[in-house]
Amino acid sequence: MNKKVTVVGAGNVGATVSQRLVEKELCDVVLIDIIEGVPQGKALDLTEAAPIEKHDAHLIGANDYKPSKGSDIVIITAGIPRKPGMSRDDLISTNAGIMKNVTREVARLSPEAVLIIVSNPLDAMCHVAYDASGFPKNRVIGMAGVLDSARFRAFIAMELDVSVENTHAFVLGGHGDTMVPLPRYSTVAGIPITELMPRERIDSLVERTANGGAEIVSLLKTGSAYYAPASAAVEMAESILKDKKKILPCAAYLEGEYDINGLFIGVPVKLGAKGIEKVIEIVLTDEEKAALEKSAAAVQGLKDTLKKLDAK
Ligand code: NAI
Ligand code: 2OP
Repeated sequence: MNKKVTVVGAGNVGATVSQRLVEKELCDVVLIDIIEGVPQGKALDLTEAAPIEKHDAHLIGANDYKPSKGSDIVIITAGIPRKPGMSRDDLISTNAGIMKNVTREVARLSPEAVLIIVSNPLDAMCHVAYDASGFPKNRVIGMAGVLDSARFRAFIAMELDVSVENTHAFVLGGHGDTMVPLPRYSTVAGIPITELMPRERIDSLVERTANGGAEIVSLLKTGSAYYAPASAAVEMAESILKDKKKILPCAAYLEGEYDINGLFIGVPVKLGAKGIEKVIEIVLTDEEKAALEKSAAAVQGLKDTLKKLDAK
């Protein structure tokens, strides 16, 4: 392949991301983890599946960063996931340290890469990666909105008994309890769902979406979701690798857009070869604006926590 993507963290999300990338023949993959043998073993296992899956993408597993040199994209999934009873925010101090070290390594060897951040708490980890990489804001992007929107789309399709392919949904804001699903901008075959189901049904789908991560954690008990998160990260990577210019909800560093300054938060963006090519500003009602402001305040709280951790 003529494109190279490094995936850091060969756990559930990282391994599934690698599988989807190579099976779609989007790029060669370098899979990195600190656990000796695991990235090598998973890369080899996926390589041995290639003849059956019919792809010619190459995979390398490693415990060091040398093979990642010159990557087009680096997807960072390294860190600990949450267990039942934990919020995403409980992960902040462990994952901030991991994110800082990982970002420094990948930024040194792949100075032109686009970084897709996955580790939680997502919006806070984007800040850590942005600061540690020194990359311009268009090349540090957080994955959350595509996942949260996919969950909303799946629930809409189940509720109305229609194809998921007919659904579109937008979930903005931070990747946490204050995320902002937008029913007015969520459609089935172009028809807003506000015209297709009563308010109380929409409210219940919105609530299920906001609790979507916790619902999976409570079922799995030993970790968090990874199939849908991997699909979401790969949709973003594909738009960048193929310069498709898809409009997707992603965590982006805002400087005045939506009246938010100096914060990573989920908004619709155009994703192309350069990473974020444009932040799309959609018109929000007062109620939606207030919800986005509340979500931004929660992200600001995480940013303040990072500052305190740094000062320690
Ligand atoms: P996992 O525990 O299966 O995998 C994490 C991997 O990171 C492990 O293999 C671990 O050895 C590795 N790791 C730890 N420190 C490292 C370091 N310094 N360098 C390289 N690798 C290192 O966890 P999973 O399920 O893959 O989740 C990964 C992260 O992604 C978690 O923080 C989780 O909360 C987050 N996540 C975020 C989502 C989002 O929507 N943004 C969705 C799903 C997961
Ligand atoms: C999720 O939403 C854990 O953030 C992850 O599934």
